[in-house]
Amino acid sequence: MKRILVLIIALVFASGANAQKFEGLAETPPMGWNSWNKFACDVDENLIKETADAMVASGMKDAGYEYIVIDDCWHGERDSLGFIHPDPERFPSGIKALADYIHSKGLKFGIYSDAGWETCGGRPGSRGREYQDAMTYASWGVDYLKYDWCNTEGLKAEGAYLTMRDALYEAGRPIVFSICEWGDNDPWEWAGPIGHLWRTTGDIYNCFDCEEDHGTWSSWGVLQIIDMRPGIRTAAGPGHWNDPDMMEVGNGMSVSEDRAHFALWAIQAAPLIAGNDIRNMSPETVEILTNKDVIAIDQDTLGVQGYKHIDEEDYEVWVKPLAGGEVAVLFLNRTEDPMDITFDWKANKMTDPDFGHSYDYAADQYSIYNVHTHKKSGTTKKALKATIPGHDVLMYRLTKK
Ligand code: GLA
Repeated sequence: MKRILVLIIALVFASGANAQKFEGLAETPPMGWNSWNKFACDVDENLIKETADAMVASGMKDAGYEYIVIDDCWHGERDSLGFIHPDPERFPSGIKALADYIHSKGLKFGIYSDAGWETCGGRPGSRGREYQDAMTYASWGVDYLKYDWCNTEGLKAEGAYLTMRDALYEAGRPIVFSICEWGDNDPWEWAGPIGHLWRTTGDIYNCFDCEEDHGTWSSWGVLQIIDMRPGIRTAAGPGHWNDPDMMEVGNGMSVSEDRAHFALWAIQAAPLIAGNDIRNMSPETVEILTNKDVIAIDQDTLGVQGYKHIDEEDYEVWVKPLAGGEVAVLFLNRTEDPMDITFDWKANKMTDPDFGHSYDYAADQYSIYNVHTHKKSGTTKKALKATIPGHDVLMYRLTKK
């Protein structure tokens, strides 16, 4: 009898039948930094340590940024038993020491792998080694895993991500699981019980309005990304977020474009993962990335992704319901020229098409707070008259009077 019981327990473990996603992580969209957008494969332990220092010194940690994630190319080789090791030249102290350093700063540590044989950068992937790699990451003190989708011929995305989810769970250390298959397999339909966030698009490119053609694939500007996946906002919520990719703020777009990019990510309840060199930031970049009023909209506990209330060729109005009956409203100018707008609140009852939250400015008056100037800006009694600079936004937080 005892033996049968042991066998049953062993089978349950082996099949991962009791495995699940770690709950209680990413209750608001994850915030942090990732090496890829700025440094690509040029990563080493000094860069990562200096970045952790800068996250504290710049005020980003105080503003809510938490995860320092090394993307592709940290890998060395597998040893004779199959255990993965970091590149010995770039990470001579080992990953555990790096994780300890990051933890000593009060931050969390993330790493990258791939569901296929090789990562997109040609390093060893986790295919067939999922449980072994998950154990290794847990032993290193990893808190976040970004799991990519290159070189996955013959794999089904849902199953492959489920395998790694179960492996992480069995390894026992709570790890945020970031799914990165670019939205190719409609992850918003299946990834909720598997990951905490999932990429919805191909890679971002450091431009506001462009497509960068790489031959067999493209990367995309800010406007292209926000246009790409209508109708998936109901998949997002506490613990499970749509991820329109890491940010390019501070990588060379204009201040207006960076401000708009950041605000558009916030109104979508997107993960706020900086992708610039945070050791060397202009004051404008620091101001954008640490704007606590914009961050509060992203991190709002209601966890509702915003929607478009007005969707014109050059001009959009986005609405994000917030906890406590408040609401964020964003006006986007998609053109390069300044745009004068008049917006009659009373004629613009806003009703969330999916969740039903409703704001009727003809019936109720709201006070308006500008999250970029950090100033009160009247009420909804009077129509808003304003000019939006080219490739920029106006963003407000409204509170019922
Ligand atoms: C893919 C991902 C990127 C990055 C690179 C690394 O393109 O989408 O975010 O991780 O791989 O090679």
